Amino acid sequence: SQVLRVLGLESSCDDTAAAIVTSSGEILSETNRHQHAIHSQHGGIVPGLAANHHLMNMPLVVHETLKAAGLQISDLDAIAVTRGPGLPASLAVCVSAGKTLAAVHEKPLIGVHHMEAHALMARMGAEDKVQFPYLCLLISGGHTLTLVVHDVNEYTMIGTTRDDSIGEAFDKVARELQIPWIDAQIGGGAGPALEQCALAGDRTRFPLPVPMDKADSAGSPDFSFSGLKTHIKRMREQALFDPLCAQDQADVAAAFQMTAAKHLRKKTVLAFRRARELLQGQPLSCLVASGGVASNLAVRQVLAGLAAKEGVELVCPPPSLCTDNGVMIAWAGIERLRRGLLDPYTIDFIQRWPL
Ligand code: KG4
Ligand code: ZN
Repeated sequence: SQVLRVLGLESSCDDTAAAIVTSSGEILSETNRHQHAIHSQHGGIVPGLAANHHLMNMPLVVHETLKAAGLQISDLDAIAVTRGPGLPASLAVCVSAGKTLAAVHEKPLIGVHHMEAHALMARMGAEDKVQFPYLCLLISGGHTLTLVVHDVNEYTMIGTTRDDSIGEAFDKVARELQIPWIDAQIGGGAGPALEQCALAGDRTRFPLPVPMDKADSAGSPDFSFSGLKTHIKRMREQALFDPLCAQDQADVAAAFQMTAAKHLRKKTVLAFRRARELLQGQPLSCLVASGGVASNLAVRQVLAGLAAKEGVELVCPPPSLCTDNGVMIAWAGIERLRRGLLDPYTIDFIQRWPL
């Protein structure tokens, strides 16, 4: 069959990204302008600033992406955009850019759910391995959830966080421990610095309670990370450890990381159980883990062990495709285009959009 080429645009949060991807899973070009440096000065994403930067950067990002691939819009089979969920003024940028390009060039338009794109990303170049249905764990600064991926456009959400995302927890605990931020190229945040610090730590010295482990919540597949963060904050207030002591820092970091991973494992085991009830004997092909936190090796190790126990393989996209990017939007566009799931040029963005 004919190879399809799709341009994907993403601007739902703090990345202005574009990519051109083929139906055989080849990335022809990709561009990503992060705004991490801008927002880290404010201690969080400032929506107005994010939208301004998307507005400035989107035309350049699209231009660069086409140029790097040596293609023009007329060479494409469709244009895919992140339609939601996300920051409204930011979403408006990729939606209106994509709609206008598609309408002017009379190309099919595809509005993509951001979470669907994360969930389908692992299939690119691995469709024989990551077959429907599979279980997907999205763990990042923006998402903490488990999902049964039945097919394109067909999902069941199983668990989600009741408070903070897991990435936020890593970032806040790192701040509590005064671990200096390393500006990781991929994924803004202090997670990589905490992981590094934990390598030298004794994870048994400061035992931490595993979240949602009591009788009233142990059966729920939901996540909770704010209690763990608060627990560590209290420990510091009570001077149970000294953030200026490197060994204390490493020991608390190691304990936190292990406890967070244990919590993930317990809830993912429950998600497997629910998924199997739902699927009534139909087997899951694998466990997909994606999002910035899925690049953490300690977390990966725990998830790989759990997957093996469940009799499936753990599949993680490479780190640069785990975090927000244009490739995942383009790939989700390919998957939808192949099924004829197209949208009219009149679509609006959707700020809150359940899967
Ligand atoms: O997927 P991502 O880049 O952006 C979204 O939030 O969508 O995830 C960023 C989050 C940050 O909280 C960052 O600290 C965390 O992922 N993160 C990590 C690691 N790399 C990134 N957390 C733990 N260990 C890591 N190696
Ligand atoms: Zn995302």
